[in-house]
Amino acid sequence: MRAGCGWAVSPVIMGAVNGHEGASVAFPARWWYPACTTRELGTRPLTTTLMETPLAIFRDRRGGLGALVDRCPHRNYPPSLGRVIPDGVLECGYHGWRFDACGNCVTVPGLLDGQEAAATTRRAVSHAAVERDGIVWVWGEPEVAPTREPFPLPLISGRGAGEVVFRYDLDCSLHAALENALDVPHTAFLHRGIFRGGNPRSITAVRKELSDGVEAQYLGEPVGMGPIRARAESQRTFDHWDRFFLPSIAQIEYAIEGWARVVNTVLHLPLSPYRTRAWFVVRYWSRLPASVVRPAVLLRGKQILRQDARALAAQTSRIRAFGGERYTSTDLDILGNAIWRLLRQAERSESGLTTAAELGGNGDRHPEPVERTVTFNV
Ligand code: FES
Ligand SMILES: [Fe+2]
Repeated sequence: MRAGCGWAVSPVIMGAVNGHEGASVAFPARWWYPACTTRELGTRPLTTTLMETPLAIFRDRRGGLGALVDRCPHRNYPPSLGRVIPDGVLECGYHGWRFDACGNCVTVPGLLDGQEAAATTRRAVSHAAVERDGIVWVWGEPEVAPTREPFPLPLISGRGAGEVVFRYDLDCSLHAALENALDVPHTAFLHRGIFRGGNPRSITAVRKELSDGVEAQYLGEPVGMGPIRARAESQRTFDHWDRFFLPSIAQIEYAIEGWARVVNTVLHLPLSPYRTRAWFVVRYWSRLPASVVRPAVLLRGKQILRQDARALAAQTSRIRAFGGERYTSTDLDILGNAIWRLLRQAERSESGLTTAAELGGNGDRHPEPVERTVTFNV
C-alpha cells in the first residue's frame, strides 16, 4: 500500500434521509411549484408529476384551473387520458365520470335519479392551481387552500426589453439543480471559454439572508463573457446577484448600469427525487435591439445548459452508485449549503419538527452564519 496519501479517514456513507439514500432530497409541500407554462397547457389535459404524484392539469374554461391527482377514484384510470368537455369539467375516458376543478364528481353516467354524483367517496384528490406571469402554479399539498402567493417574476419593460423561455429536464435532485444554477466557480471549468475562463480576477461575494431565501451579491466582476473581457485596466464591472427563493426558484441577475439588465429566473419542478424540470425565464433589457439579443441568449443559454445537464446526470449517477452524497465544501460553495438548510427547515417546520433538528443530507453542514463575505479568483 502506498504511504502518505492521508488515508486515515475511512469513507463514510451517509444514512438514509427520507428514504433517499443520504441525498439532499427535500420537498416542502406548502409552497407553489411551477407545473407548466400557460403556453404548454392547451385544450387537452396535461400530465406532469409533482414529486412522483401524477397530476392532470386542465382549464375549466371559466378562467380557472384544475390540478387533479391523475387517478380516477372509480377504477384508477388516469383521467388525463380523457377530455375536457365544453362546460369545463374533466371527463374520465374509461366510464365517463366527470370532475370539476376542485375534484368534485359532477356526473356519473347511468346513475339513477336520486343518487347524487357528488358523493365524497367519488371525489378526485385536487391541488390548488393558479396562472400567474405565464406560469401555471400548483400548490404542493393536496386538498388545502394556499397560504401565500406564487413567486413573482420580475417585470422588465420598455424599448429593448424581451423574454426568452426554455425548458429542460435534469437528472438530479431539486437541490443539486438549484445549487448548479447558482454556483459561480464551476463556470470557469465546465463552461470554459463560453462563460468565464480568461485570466482569473478577484471578486467578492456577499451572502445575505432574504425573506424565504438567500442571496449572494458579487462585487468587482469584470464585464465580459468567456474570451471577451473588458481591458485589464477597465474599471467596468457587472452588477451580479444570485438568489434562491423557497421552494424551488433560482435567480441570476446581471446588469451593466445604463446598458443592459438580464434576469434569468429558473423555476424548478421536482418531478421525482432525482428528476427535476426547469424552466428558464430570461427577461432582459438592453440597448441592443431585442432581435439581436434574443437569439444570442437562446444559443448561449442552451449551450451552457447542455453542459450543466450532462454534469448533473454524471453527479447523480455517482451519488446513487455510492448510496448517497459525501460532500466537502469550501468557502467558494457559497449557496449550496444555505439552500439545503432552507429547504430542509421548510420541510421540517411543516411536520412540526424544530428547525434545530438534524438537517440530514450531504454530510457537509458545518454551522455558518448566513451573512458572509468571501473573496476569490474566478
Ligand atoms: S375509471 Fe374513471 S370513470 Fe371509471
Ligand atoms: Fe453551469
